[in-house]
Amino acid sequence: MEKYQLYTTMGAGFESVVAKELQNLGYKTQTENGRVFFEGTQEDIVKTNLWLRTADRVKILLKEFKALDFDTLYNEVYDMDWAKLLPVDAKFPVQGRAVKSKLHSEPDVQSIVKKAIVDKMMDQYHRRGFLPETGSEYPLDVHIYKDKARISLDTTGESLFKRGYRVEHGGAPMKENFAAGLLKLTPYNGTHPLIDPMTGSGTLAIEAALIAKNIAPGTWRKFAFDNFDWFDKSIHPKMLEEAKAQVKPLETPIWASDIDQSVLEFAKLNAHNAGVLQDIRFKQVAVKDFTTDLENGIIIANPPYGKRLKDKKSAEELYEQMGEVLGKYTDFSQYYLTADPNFEKYFGKKATKKRKLFNGNLRVDFYQYWANR
Ligand SMILES: C[S@@+](CC[C@H](N)C(=O)[O-])C[C@H]1O[C@@H](n2cnc3c(N)ncnc32)[C@H](O)[C@@H]1O
Repeated sequence: MEKYQLYTTMGAGFESVVAKELQNLGYKTQTENGRVFFEGTQEDIVKTNLWLRTADRVKILLKEFKALDFDTLYNEVYDMDWAKLLPVDAKFPVQGRAVKSKLHSEPDVQSIVKKAIVDKMMDQYHRRGFLPETGSEYPLDVHIYKDKARISLDTTGESLFKRGYRVEHGGAPMKENFAAGLLKLTPYNGTHPLIDPMTGSGTLAIEAALIAKNIAPGTWRKFAFDNFDWFDKSIHPKMLEEAKAQVKPLETPIWASDIDQSVLEFAKLNAHNAGVLQDIRFKQVAVKDFTTDLENGIIIANPPYGKRLKDKKSAEELYEQMGEVLGKYTDFSQYYLTADPNFEKYFGKKATKKRKLFNGNLRVDFYQYWANR
């Protein structure tokens, strides 16, 4: 089977988490900012799209070269065997990015690459006029960084955070792969109880259930590679069946509560769609009234930031309540994500460790309080 040079993209700060996921799936990896490289076949493209919990996309690196001028960019792209990759009716949007490079105009970079591909396909397919672009989609991109151009084909399509189980409700849910990334920054593996006392639409609890039950995060969706003409169509259904056969029962409880009953209804719907409704105990309860008789577990939450959902003052009052009510469960390791730089002050305790992350464009900290066990 043909081997491809592959790489995954991810949110800033999650490179090592994705690299570890890939290593656990059996790959040798090389990491750079925002990307983790590995090698694989079509089977590996299916496997990684299906199983990676924390990445954004899996791409094939088609070509890499130095591009200091537009002629070189055009020629290097024209020289590629596009007819091998793209059928005559292929739809092939090209995205362009250029950073710290001589060729810095992204629209020009994008249109030169598109033109080189169109010209080559016209020659290879002996066409005149225009290409129909009415067929399957092959999402391409050109990325130039410090004058090094990379031409890639995206095998994922819609980002991997779109698992397909979540309904829109207009709140402030975190992306599914971001939630999975936070869980991967904790020791959670399904063998200890997990509690999210501000669960919102339930993303952390649902992603925890998927991890605990070994449910592949890509179970519910299609990928860009499903539409590639040259892609072996038997691999995806086969691997999906294998994945479904590997699902295991939940060992320890997952609790998810929130003050707002209406948001919990969305959380339940999402959990139902993900097939884990029976595994998560949803309850309407305010942090100030929270109690649990579970022991030695993990509390993880994404309280309101003040900037987005509530005003700063009430967010700070909530952090104080969290410190008083949740802070006393010292046999639980506790993890809180917030953009408030003064969180520790209101919570009343300095974190064991703090990790800087970006939730979308928002600079946040992941405050970690390790258990006294
Ligand atoms: C930023 S959202 C959590 C989003 C969630 N991680 C998700 O992916 O949907 C914060 C949640 O905290 C809840 N909340 C606010 N004050 C609360 C309180 N005093 N007790 C419990 N939940 C509270 C809100 O209702 C909201 O759903």
